[in-house]
Amino acid sequence: MNSRLVLEIGDLTQYSVDAIVNAAHESLLGGGGVDGAIHTAAGPELLEACRPLGGCQPGEAKITDGFRLPARKVIHTVGPRWRGGGSGEDEILASCYRRSLALACAHQLTTVAFPAIGTGVFRFPPDRAAKISLRAVVDFLDSEAGEALKRVTMVYFRAETVTVAEQALAELEIQR
Ligand code: AR6
Repeated sequence: MNSRLVLEIGDLTQYSVDAIVNAAHESLLGGGGVDGAIHTAAGPELLEACRPLGGCQPGEAKITDGFRLPARKVIHTVGPRWRGGGSGEDEILASCYRRSLALACAHQLTTVAFPAIGTGVFRFPPDRAAKISLRAVVDFLDSEAGEALKRVTMVYFRAETVTVAEQALAELEIQR
């Protein structure tokens, strides 16, 4: 039973949480999709804060302030580019969620909202991404490291993706 996991339709840039997670580019210098929306909503200070970070490898995570966003912090992680599934994409995607949550905990952040990392420009199949992301988040919440987290919200941009995620929860037999 995991009541700290929430699935919603929404716009991540509107979330007033301790940290939203950005599906970023390796350069951390912005891009399209949710990354572009976050940079636009946060203002130019976000790009200035990202420049000295020296980019981010796929599966890793870095943190900045949220500037003009309602969220206090932005955790930037880089998903895998889909190459057919045999190039370690699943493990990189799971690592994005684990590393982002570990970074949140290291900064005493207790409410975190994620997008469906990798499922846009990077073309990761949404049903497979839903299973991997939900498994990774639930395992983290259930671990000692995740005890301090109060709420993890999975924010889906479109209604179809929430349905896919609800199906994934059922297939994984995750109770909420
Ligand atoms: N709120 C919530 N979800 C959103 C929003 C939003 N405002 N906007 C888009 N999505 P993507 P990726 C969903 O492409 O696949 C960028 O150029 C979207 O519908 O943002 O990891 C970066 O700079 C999709 O389901 O991220 C990188 O170069 C999900 O967010 C690259 O794209 C992720 O789509 C990263 O690609």
